[in-house]
Amino acid sequence: MIRLATAEDRAAIVEFCRATWGPGTEDYIERVIDRWIAGVDGALAVVDLGGRAVACCYVRFMSPREAFLAGMRVDPAHRRAGFSLALTEYCLRHAASHRRSVARTIIGWNNSPALGAIARAGFNRVGSMTLWERSTEDPPAPPDVAAESAQPSPHPSPGELWAVGWAVRELTDEDIRERTESGWAVRRDGGVALLRPGEDHVWLGWLAGPAAARAWLARAAVRVATNAGSPRCRALLAGDAATAQALEAAGFTRGLEYLIYERSTR
Ligand SMILES: CC(C)(COP(=O)(O)OP(=O)(O)OC[C@H]1O[C@@H](n2cnc3c(N)ncnc32)[C@H](O)[C@@H]1OP(=O)(O)O)[C@@H](O)C(=O)NCCC(=O)NCCS
Repeated sequence: MIRLATAEDRAAIVEFCRATWGPGTEDYIERVIDRWIAGVDGALAVVDLGGRAVACCYVRFMSPREAFLAGMRVDPAHRRAGFSLALTEYCLRHAASHRRSVARTIIGWNNSPALGAIARAGFNRVGSMTLWERSTEDPPAPPDVAAESAQPSPHPSPGELWAVGWAVRELTDEDIRERTESGWAVRRDGGVALLRPGEDHVWLGWLAGPAAARAWLARAAVRVATNAGSPRCRALLAGDAATAQALEAAGFTRGLEYLIYERSTR
């Protein structure tokens, strides 16, 4: 049976997520599970086998029309039983019943079980993003992060996606305004960087504009993270060679490439 999770499922979920990425690794589920069970911005669905949760998936509401599937996990003892497919269907129905018309997810390029499962669930690949990370120790030469310029900043192209932590959704001018008003946008010479504080890092979720501006902004993002007292700056960005060069020059290390998948909820 598939149902929404309750606080009683917490221990079982944490237990079967213990070794998701192999012995000695950490799964972020334990850090977010209380928010997910509380359903702050979505709903956590579980497969219940004889009263015990053996699989979970969080359907997160990203905007009035968009949903994102996060944290799909199946107990290693119960894999290849169709649970991820069944959970995906349940989460898509839940999203549709809350008027979300599109659902997305991101999956590491090398995670073949998950890539197989998402294709079977009818999702299409629509793009990719690369994870970049940099410690804030020894930050790059300090650009003045308060500097603004009179040049107009770039607009997102229609349907362009940006990273909101570990999730993606469409970027709008309203998002850029909101980031600016909350003090988490940096501009320079026709470029803009959108930032967001995370748990132990600051996220760089969108970097756009002329190549020279992006190079400056990548360094500025690290300074912002340093000034915010974060040990790390992380970026999850779609991008071209200029973005990669900007991040490398600012001392970021390239991490995994994540493929973005999308499906209508109907
Ligand atoms: C990926 C994962 C969620 C799949 O869960 P599952 O319940 O075993 O998957 P299902 O039984 O629903 O499989 C559905 C389809 O996915 C594909 N698939 C699943 N596991 C696979 C594997 N190990 N190798 C290749 N294809 C696989 C198959 O096409 C499968 O259909 P089939 O069994 O009829 O051939 C599970 O392996 C898991 O929890 N992995 C660790 C966490 C993870 O990677 N989460 C997703 C990334 S965010």
